[in-house]
Amino acid sequence: MAGARSVEPLRFDGKVALVTGAGGGLGKAYALLFAERGASVIVNDLGGDIKGEGKCSSAADRVVEEIRAKGGNAVASYDSVEEGEKVIQTALDAFGKIDIVVNNAGILRDRSFARTSDLDWDLIQRVHLRGSFKVTRAAWNHMKNQKYGRIIMTASTSGIYGNFGQANYSAAKLGLLGLANTLAIEGEKYNIQCNTIAPTAGSRLTQTVLPQELLDALKPEFVAPLVVWLCHESCQENGSLFEVGAGWIGKLRWERTLGAIVRQNQQMTPEAVRDNWGQICDFQNAIKPKSSRDSLMTLYEVLNKLGTKQGISPNPTSGPLQINTSRINLAEAIGKNVPSSEYTYTNLQPILYALGVGMTTKDPDHLKFLFERNEDFSCLPTFGVIPAQGSMIDGLSSVPGLNIDFTKVLHGEQYLELYKPLPTSGTLKSEGTIADILDKGSGAVILMDVRTYHEGDLVCYNQFSIFVVGTGGFGGKRMSDKVKVTVQPPSRPPDAMMSDVISINQAALYRLNGDWNPLHIDPSFAAFGGFKRPILHGLCSMGFAARHVLSQYANNDVTKFKAIKVRFAKPVIPGQTLETEMWKEGNRIHLRAKVKENNEVVLVGAYVDLEDAAYQSRDNVTGMRRELQSDLVFAEISRRIKDVGKEMVKKVNAVLQWDVTKDGKMAAQWTIDLKSGSGELYKGAAHCPADTIITLSDEDFMQVVSGKLNPQKAFFSGKLNIKGNILHSQKLEMIFKEYAKL
Ligand code: NAI
Repeated sequence: MAGARSVEPLRFDGKVALVTGAGGGLGKAYALLFAERGASVIVNDLGGDIKGEGKCSSAADRVVEEIRAKGGNAVASYDSVEEGEKVIQTALDAFGKIDIVVNNAGILRDRSFARTSDLDWDLIQRVHLRGSFKVTRAAWNHMKNQKYGRIIMTASTSGIYGNFGQANYSAAKLGLLGLANTLAIEGEKYNIQCNTIAPTAGSRLTQTVLPQELLDALKPEFVAPLVVWLCHESCQENGSLFEVGAGWIGKLRWERTLGAIVRQNQQMTPEAVRDNWGQICDFQNAIKPKSSRDSLMTLYEVLNKLGTKQGISPNPTSGPLQINTSRINLAEAIGKNVPSSEYTYTNLQPILYALGVGMTTKDPDHLKFLFERNEDFSCLPTFGVIPAQGSMIDGLSSVPGLNIDFTKVLHGEQYLELYKPLPTSGTLKSEGTIADILDKGSGAVILMDVRTYHEGDLVCYNQFSIFVVGTGGFGGKRMSDKVKVTVQPPSRPPDAMMSDVISINQAALYRLNGDWNPLHIDPSFAAFGGFKRPILHGLCSMGFAARHVLSQYANNDVTKFKAIKVRFAKPVIPGQTLETEMWKEGNRIHLRAKVKENNEVVLVGAYVDLEDAAYQSRDNVTGMRRELQSDLVFAEISRRIKDVGKEMVKKVNAVLQWDVTKDGKMAAQWTIDLKSGSGELYKGAAHCPADTIITLSDEDFMQVVSGKLNPQKAFFSGKLNIKGNILHSQKLEMIFKEYAKL
């Protein structure tokens, strides 16, 4: 059903419209209609003959008189459009501004191509193409300053399709379309819109080529309403091309075949072009590119398909394009293995990666990641994504049933699990599989699992979640048990925070690890993706965050790292400050990464799982909150529960929740479950109703533990608050004395 339409007629009161070549034919019809609708009109016409020779003021004057006789407002302009400044000056002198320019003036000098003289060529280009340029350029800044403008270019079907004897005219007419396409882009932000029409109407230009009957039927009045509508302030059309005549209007656009890659590695031969000609020219499933960005993206996709070395990884954050050629065949794709890939590296690559995620010689702790002769020389755990990323880039394009448009691919999430520390050099073999495909409505999520082996041993597992925009709705499931899910952090304030200023060259450095997407280095490509500047790789932000966790909770010991999961929410721009907020829940460190300058969250639902997370954290890093002293005691209690949990359960038989405060605010929650099995200790509120909830400050806690403060006394003096079964407070002394010795 069509949307509600205004019944108000389209009016142009207060608007100033220039129509060039308005002394007759189409231009006259436009001028009359604009005037009838309230515009002040500049009727421009040189008054020459059809071939562009001679001049006369009467053509313009007659139209002005007709408008005035009907009560309209108009002035004449007799200058050639080649003198655009003068034409626009007439508008400014008469009405003080210019809102609408209809480039309509035209001549014909038809000749077969062989007989086309220089003059035939030049005059046509000068009147049509150069004249439209001159008039429009003279009006442009006025429109820009007033943030309003509507421009029409007049092309022709002769330019669009070609026409015998009109080589000069066809060239000029399609030149006008190119001009309009760019003006539409440049003018958009100033509310200047530019559209092109290819009209057909009876006029002195067509009277020699069309039979009289047709000339009479194809009235200019059947074209003018389109021009008037395109110039109305309520019309949002911009950069479009219309064929119009006899009261019919149609819109045109480009269509392109899916084409064929005919190159093999560095070789491309004429024979390969010949052999693929059918596919190159096959319009089945053809797409409709809308911008030069669409065109460029296709080339990047081609480079991608041609291989990792020269290839480019899928664009992680660029906005969706309008074209959609993606097709997914679930039965064919799910469970498919992608060709295995090998990644051979020396010490250089882990060092380059460490530099790529912000390791610096300023920090002595970082040396073991940057200096191959350091006795603890190690490879950062998140380097594990590097050997696997090749499988993803090449893999996706090789899977049958996954006919996806790489310009619509976003890297949504990443999971990495390590089974042993990564070797600092060697050859790693990666095997990828399409684990599952989800239908998220707005797009499809492809889960690609990649397992990476070193000398036959599994060293790490990656799950790439790839979102393909616009390919959803194929009736697939929304969730899968294969998904490594994101987990939200606790609602309390973060336990720790680390930050780094991302250096201006960070993305330039990180890409050397094999992600060659120009989005991260080339300003003009970034602009195509809608970014002011090249953006940091999502996996690089992940590397920073993982490094923060490793430093904060694992003393940079890579053997402690088990797994990481992140969802990429927004990009980071080099130069911004990345803040990693961390929450410790047992061996899981929840994290959230933000850009300090604008508070935008860039990594969400993220966590790192550690082996035996250290309860004592470093406190010498700027911006980090000191951990609580009580954390040490709980770490000790945790160890004792492992040793003598059964005995403790027998003696205490209660679930005790601890709310530890610092500076009057809740700083940590711990639960000691000594009720069932062999007992357990975990961070956070009790999972089942606690028998007793004890609240006290971190300092008082330490006093109690060290025996300097008796728990009962602390209770009566108000330092220790107990909710629930108060009798359990008597057991506290025992827990501390017997099990929490420091
Ligand atoms: P027309 O000959 O009736 O109108 C063109 C007007 O432009 C004339 O009044 C002429 O004096 C004026 N003119 C020529 N050179 C000028 C200059 N240097 N400066 C100022 N004015 C100048 O022809 P018609 O058919 O109304 O054409 C209007 C436009 O539509 C032209 O650009 C033409 O190429 C285009 N067109 C017309 C088609 C048709 O079927 N009538 C088909 C395709 C395009």
